[in-house]
Amino acid sequence: MRSTIELECGREGENNPLRRWNVHRLYRQWRNSQIMDHHIGLELEKRYQEYLQHEQTSKTRGKSIMDIVIAEYMKNRPASQTQISTLDPEFKSWAIIQIRLFLFVGHDSTAVTIIYCLYLLSKYPDTLGKIRQEHEQIFGPDTTTVATQIREHPEKINQLSYTTAVIKEALRLFPPANGIRWGRPGISLTDTHSTDGRTFPVDDCAVWIVHTAIQRNPGYWPHAHEFVPDRWLVEPGHELYPPTGGWRPFERGARDCVGQNMAMLAIKITLAMLVREFDFDSQYEEWDRENPAAGAVRTMFGERAYMVAKGAAHPAQGYPCKVRLAV
Ligand code: HEM
Repeated sequence: MRSTIELECGREGENNPLRRWNVHRLYRQWRNSQIMDHHIGLELEKRYQEYLQHEQTSKTRGKSIMDIVIAEYMKNRPASQTQISTLDPEFKSWAIIQIRLFLFVGHDSTAVTIIYCLYLLSKYPDTLGKIRQEHEQIFGPDTTTVATQIREHPEKINQLSYTTAVIKEALRLFPPANGIRWGRPGISLTDTHSTDGRTFPVDDCAVWIVHTAIQRNPGYWPHAHEFVPDRWLVEPGHELYPPTGGWRPFERGARDCVGQNMAMLAIKITLAMLVREFDFDSQYEEWDRENPAAGAVRTMFGERAYMVAKGAAHPAQGYPCKVRLAV
């Protein structure tokens, strides 16, 4: 999958339209596809056998996406077919496509957000101090017990309000995905803060919802380019209070991200287990020294770890950093 993402997005800074038709690339994409389908297919068959066995022994069933897909499928299968020993090929190829989608969309947008949280925390020591303090308050001083505590008392995750604010602010400044919608007749977009009164009809257009542009728009967000986790903790009416519809890293509406709660949970748990144990230091200065040919312009919105397209958007050069045990 990673190789397919690399082949799809190309190298950083590269914009060569001929790459798309490179025969070698097309072959590798096809080959990668075969490999992914093969392995997901094997796993599906395995889970299906487990499902049949558990049905007979009435053991608790798993809750992975594959188990859920199979359970739904079995619910709708005619009774005469419920004990057939292999999966129906048509269902199997449909399920493989859905699982590939899940693997792709759930894969690195979560990881990228974790990296940006760590990057921002290392840039803002005051915020790092506050998040560590919150973790100490909720989990106590012994960092080695956090995993056990989360397993035994998962509700503690809901108390991490400052951590949630940090993640939401990281997702505002560095949204790893974006959205697209098909424009409908009679619908127009208007910037309500603009004074020129222009409207933009969207009939027959693909409307690309560029999260970075919306979430860093100074017309709607005070201190738009600054990292201000506190804006997520203030009451309505406060000047920092986020604008309605302005935060959309998971998009909004009927087709928004189905994995958003899981992603937020995964990020919170990861931060709770990392930020008190380790310090992260960006090594861009060293990278820049070693790569003088990369050009003079190396920041966007003043950020060296600007986003580049790599499946989900990633920090430039993969965020070179050093990790130390925190003292
Ligand atoms: C920080 C992490 C994530 C971000 C920022 C993110 C963002 C998004 C965005 C912007 C969309 C497009 C929604 C739209 O067009 O309305 C989307 C769709 C989707 N996401 Fe996520 N996502 C994340 C993590 C996950 C995870 C962990 C999963 C599942 C395990 C997941 C599953 C999906 C699926 C299945 C869709 C397609 C939904 C559909 O078309 O109905 N995402 N995500």
